[in-house]
This record gives sequence, C-alpha cells and structure tokens, in this order.
Amino acid sequence: MRFSTLSLAALASFTCTVSALSPADWKKQSIYQVMTDRFARTDGSTTAACDTSADKYCGGSWQGIINKLDYIQDMGFTAIWISPIVENLQADGAYHGYWAQNITELNTNFGTESDLLALSTALHGKGMYLMVDVVTNHMGYNGCRDCVDYSIFDPFNLQSDYHTPCAIDYNNATSEKVCWEGDDTVSLPDLRTEDSGVLATWNTWIGGIVTKYSIDGLRLDSALEVDVDFFSPFEAAAGVYIVGEAFNGDPSTVCPLQDSLSGLLNYPAYYWITQAFESTSGSMSNLENGINTMKSECSDTNLLGSFLENHDVARFPSYTSDISLTKNAIAFTILTDGIPIVYEGQEQHFSGTGDPSSREAVWLSGYPTDSTFYTWIASLNQIRNEAINLDPTYVTYKANPIYSDSSNIVMRKGNTGFQMISAFTNTGASGSSSFTLSSTETGFNSSQALIEVMSCTAVTTDSSGNLAVTLTSGLPGVYFPKSLLTGSGICSSITGSKSSTSASASATTTAPSTTDTSSATATSTKTSKSASSSLTTSSVASSTSASCTTATSVAVTFNALESTAYGETIKLAGNTTALGSWAPANALALSAANYTASNPQWSVTVSMAPGTAVLYKFIKVGSGGSVAWEADPNRSYTVPVGCAAAAMVRDVWQA
Ligand SMILES: *[C@@H]1O[C@H](CO)[C@@H](O)[C@H](O)[C@H]1NC(C)=O
Ligand SMILES: *[C@@H]1O[C@H](CO)[C@@H](O)[C@H](O)[C@H]1NC(C)=O
Ligand SMILES: *[C@@H]1O[C@H](CO)[C@@H](O)[C@H](O)[C@H]1NC(C)=O
Ligand SMILES: *[C@@H]1O[C@H](CO)[C@@H](O)[C@H](O)[C@H]1NC(C)=O
Ligand SMILES: *[C@@H]1O[C@H](CO)[C@@H](O)[C@H](O)[C@H]1NC(C)=O
Ligand SMILES: *[C@@H]1O[C@H](CO)[C@@H](O)[C@H](O)[C@H]1NC(C)=O
Repeated sequence: MRFSTLSLAALASFTCTVSALSPADWKKQSIYQVMTDRFARTDGSTTAACDTSADKYCGGSWQGIINKLDYIQDMGFTAIWISPIVENLQADGAYHGYWAQNITELNTNFGTESDLLALSTALHGKGMYLMVDVVTNHMGYNGCRDCVDYSIFDPFNLQSDYHTPCAIDYNNATSEKVCWEGDDTVSLPDLRTEDSGVLATWNTWIGGIVTKYSIDGLRLDSALEVDVDFFSPFEAAAGVYIVGEAFNGDPSTVCPLQDSLSGLLNYPAYYWITQAFESTSGSMSNLENGINTMKSECSDTNLLGSFLENHDVARFPSYTSDISLTKNAIAFTILTDGIPIVYEGQEQHFSGTGDPSSREAVWLSGYPTDSTFYTWIASLNQIRNEAINLDPTYVTYKANPIYSDSSNIVMRKGNTGFQMISAFTNTGASGSSSFTLSSTETGFNSSQALIEVMSCTAVTTDSSGNLAVTLTSGLPGVYFPKSLLTGSGICSSITGSKSSTSASASATTTAPSTTDTSSATATSTKTSKSASSSLTTSSVASSTSASCTTATSVAVTFNALESTAYGETIKLAGNTTALGSWAPANALALSAANYTASNPQWSVTVSMAPGTAVLYKFIKVGSGGSVAWEADPNRSYTVPVGCAAAAMVRDVWQA
C-alpha cells in the first residue's frame, strides 16, 4: 500500500530503510513493546537509577534500543512498538511521550532525527519492523484546563482547534469524545478530530513521518476519545496498519471500532485472561465465553493486539507470585488469536502495580537472556513463528476453545495437519490435572506422534486418536505434530539437529554478494543459540553496521516442500512477467537438486527489484503435462527493501 504513494526518488533518498507491511502481514508478527525512556540508555548503563514514582525522564533512548535489538530478536520478536516520538511539554512528567506540544519536532530526550532513522534502518536490516505510538486525540499543557496558552502548540495553535474544556465523565460516551483527559495540573487539550481541518493536518503529518522514518505500523492512543470518522482517512493517509487503544473491557464498545481501524488492543480478552489465571479460582468459563464473544463481535480477532501487560496497567505478577500461573497467562496471550504484544520487563518477571510503578527501567535487570521468562517467551514465539512458517493460514484461523472445565481450557489454532493444541490450567505450581481429548476435538489422527513443545515431551495419540493430557506443576501443554518439526531446532532432542534447510533457519538465509565466510558463520551461530524469528519470508543483512549499500536487485529463493511422484515437477506461477503472469506454460521451473524423501524440497532463485509485490502459487506438472494448482489462498510476498541482496521464502504445498 505504501509503495503506491512513494516515488522512486523518495525510495532512493531513504537508504536501506524502506519496507512495507500490510495488515495481513502484521498478523504474522510478534511485537515487543518498548517504553523508550525505560528500556535502554545510550551509555548502556545497567545501574543508572530510575525511581518510577518520581515520574522523571530516566534516560532511555533510540540509540539505546539499537544497541539492544539482539536481546529483543533473540526472544523471537519480529517488531517493536516504541513510545510517541514528538516533542512534549517541557516537564519531567512527559517521559512517556503522550503529552505533545510540537509535533513537527522530535522528543530530544530520546535522540536525534538521525538516531531515529538509524533505529528504523537497524530494525529493517535485521528483518524486523517498526511500530510507532501516536496521539491524535489531544496535546499536552503544563497547567490547568482554563489557563491554556494555545499559541505554544505547533500546529493546532488556535483555541478553535479544540473542544471547550470539561472533565471526562467516562459513563457518558459523548463526554468521552468532547471533554478533556488529564487534570488541572497537566491538562490535555482535546482536539476537534471531527473537523476536516484538524483531520487534514494530521493526515499530512502522518504520511510524512511514516515515509521519512519508514514506519511499518502505528499504535493509536486514546481511540475511544477520538471521533470515529477520523480513523479511516487517517489510516489511509498513513498507509500502514494501525492498532488502536480502546481502553475498555466491553466487546460491544471495542469491536465496533474495528469497522474503521484495522486493529485494536484486545482489552476485553486482557481482562478475562488476567481473571482466569491470576488465582487458582479464576473462571475458565468466562474466558471461554469471552473468546467466543470476541470472535462473533469483532470483524477480525486475528488483527487485534493480544497482550497481558502494558505501561498503563498493573503487571500480572503483581497479582500472583505463582510462576506457573504467569507462564499460563503469557502463553495464552501469545498463542491465541491476534498479534502478540509483550511489554518490556515481562521477560524479567517485573511486578509493578500499575502506572507509574509498572514502568520499571529494564536496564536495571542487566538484560539476562537465561532468565525463566525470557526463555519461556522465546520458546512460545519460536513455536508460533514455526507454525506460521509451516502454514501461513495459522494466523487467519480463529482459535477455538475445544475443551474447558473448572481449572483448564484447551484451544485449537491452525488447519488440520498443522494445528496446535494448547492446554492451559490455573491449578498453580503445586497443582496438576489430567483429562482426555478426543480426535474430534483436536483433529489429530490415531497413533499420531506429537511433541509437547514446552517441555519437549514426545506424546502419541492412542489407536482411536485420543490425546491424554497431563499438566504437571500447573504448567501448560502445547501439542504439535512431530513430523512437522524435524530439523526445526525445536526440541532437537526429539526432532534431530537443526537442518540448514529447515523452516526455522530462515532467518539465517541471506548473504549479499559481498558476503564472506565470517559473516555467514556469525549469522548461523546466532540463530542456533536463539529462538529468533522464522517467518515465511525474511532477509538479513550481512553486517550489523549502521551504514550499508542499498540492494538494487534481490535474489529471492523460493522453496516449496512437496512430495512428488516420479516424473512430476513443481513450478511457480505468479502475477508478474518474471513469474509467468499466471500462465502455467511460462511458470518458473523449480529444481529438485536438494530433494530427498525426508525433505522434499523444490527451489528456484529469481532476481527481483526491491519492493516488488507479487501474488503467486505453486503448480504441479505431471509427466504428461497435466497441471494441478495449489489450493487457495494465493500467496503474497514483497521483496524486501534494504541492504540484503538475497532473501528466502519457505513454503509448504497447500493441499
Ligand atoms: C516547533 O518546532 C519547529 C522545529 O524545531 C520550530 O521551527 C517551531 O518554531 C516550533 N513551534 C513552536 C510553536 O515553537
Ligand atoms: C454527556 O456529556 C455531554 C458533553 O459533556 C453533555 O452535554 C451531556 O449533557 C452529558 N449527558 C448526560 C446524560 O450527562
Ligand atoms: C491425518 O491423516 C490424514 C490422511 O493421511 C491427513 O490428510 C491429515 O493431514 C492427518 N491429520 C493430521 C492432524 O496430521
Ligand atoms: C542445496 O544444497 C547445496 C549443498 O548442500 C547447498 O549449497 C545449496 O545452497 C542448496 N540449495 C538450496 C536452494 O537450498
Ligand atoms: C501483483 O499483485 C500484487 C499484490 O496484489 C500487486 O501489488 C502488484 O501490483 C501485482 N503485480 C502486477 C504486475 O500485477
Ligand atoms: C488468485 O489469483 C488469480 C489470478 O489473479 C485470481 O483469478 C484468483 O481469484 C485468486 N484467488 C484468490 C483466492 O484470491
């Protein structure tokens, strides 16, 4: 979508940093929420004091984030959401970034324009994406509602751009739209987002910053306080996916907004998940009913942001110190529908009780990567990324509660053959439970070999296809077909060592023409120790240095796993000339050079211009010339724009 609005000249002027990501592509991501002031400092300090109750800037910066991207990527995240980037009112309390004063200028506490550009470039160079928080509902003023000097704002410097001051009554929907957030110490002048002039100014601004900083997605603050008709034109002007904050637990309040905004934070599910797992008496039936309600009321639960914590709410471990309950709650949010969003510090078991105490400085943890929750989250992202890689419809399938009782709930996500069955429990660390799931419930076959991937335990269904589930020490169980994980690096004690052609090795694939063995070695070492992303497509630059040469052509290798009979071949047909314009006669022939019975891989490499978007499918051509097309949907792929001169796409034949 963005590319239609970008000229080639504009592309050329933003070296190495442009990428495009549609809402459909966002479904495949996993987001790490960074509160910029509290994540990492430029000086790399792990001791600089940060008293959350003081409400002051603590020194986190964009450069600090750049230095810690491996910490984030090695946990399996593919994107970050950062705090608002614009200049705020001049007071310490503005460290969170939600009190804008001049949106034409950056918040210098976080860094410079070149720092923000470098963050965007660094992310894209690692095959990751940038989501930026924006606030369109209000500006911020250091003083009472009736004493605002509007001339200090840029733009929106006229009182007529704002609603008449009044305090919000949250039981009154009109008041929520037209009255002001904040208080009489810091008031938040409420913009008339229903005015065409205000909308036009925001549209021009957002198009500009998305292009300038190659932003891939936005989080929109205070969505319930903004005029509903504002969203569609604003999202169109941005040209990227938006996840809106509708801070409300009622599906009938939240879901209607999805008619105007691609995504929303799934606050209703947040409340049910918290309530279900915060104690051993939480309600599984409320959770089950809630999940089903969201599916029926929201237009697409897979475009929602699925979270357990953020900077505005109490952290989950503030409700319970039980490690198993917390593991269940985190696993549920990552494996259910929607885009997982993990708030910085969850991986270090932070336990702040809400704003401001749940805004702890992450650097004070020392960033250990062997901590209980760091590795737990890494494992969850790894199996989710692998499931998406094996079958992209994992992220369009709507997760289904297939079983529940007073302390357990089991979800199925994914089409038959690729389904993940996840069993969650709130019995707590000293509890255990067991029950049997039928083949009808799970979709598994008789005597099918599975792996419970969180503990790496091999499990087999019985001769009727029943799956005996035992959850010990109150830990969840995540069951996935064993045959799909061969060589994936997941549970390698069972699945064998990681093969270079396995799906989860995809993050290692590319090496530009100038690569040498040292960079290749460095990349593969990194992936084997980590649970880094394994998306359908990825590209990685050969070097992590800030400067690089923009690739003018990318050698894209398409792999398809499909067992074929003797004489059959696989071809790739797509909607561009290079891909034969859908005509089987002109489709690209794949090579079976690396085909083995256990890894039936067909491949072809084709040079394409960065940014090219293609639709394609594989076809199977019989020895007599018969043509069989893969099942729908059409596959889509966008050639990465950046420093990488090669990229790899790993697909499994869609039966
Ligand atoms: C907003 O920032 C820009 C860029 O620094 C500056 O030129 C402008 O004067 C500022 N606006 C106000 C009202 O201070
Ligand atoms: C709701 O808020 C609006 C705006 O402040 C106000 O005009 C209206 O009277 C309120 N309605 C009720 C029922 O209080
Ligand atoms: C069960 O077996 C059928 C027939 O072999 C196969 O199509 C299907 O994918 C299998 N289901 C799973 C969950 O592996
Ligand atoms: C095929 O295998 C060879 C030898 O292992 C390897 O160099 C080559 O990159 C592989 N090709 C693909 C497309 O995976
Ligand atoms: C191929 O499809 C993509 C995605 O719909 C589209 O953006 C692109 O313009 C198409 N290319 C051609 C040559 O039609
Ligand atoms: C796939 O693309 C072809 C060619 O453009 C089109 O005719 C077909 O409707 C598409 N299929 C789906 C499911 O969108």
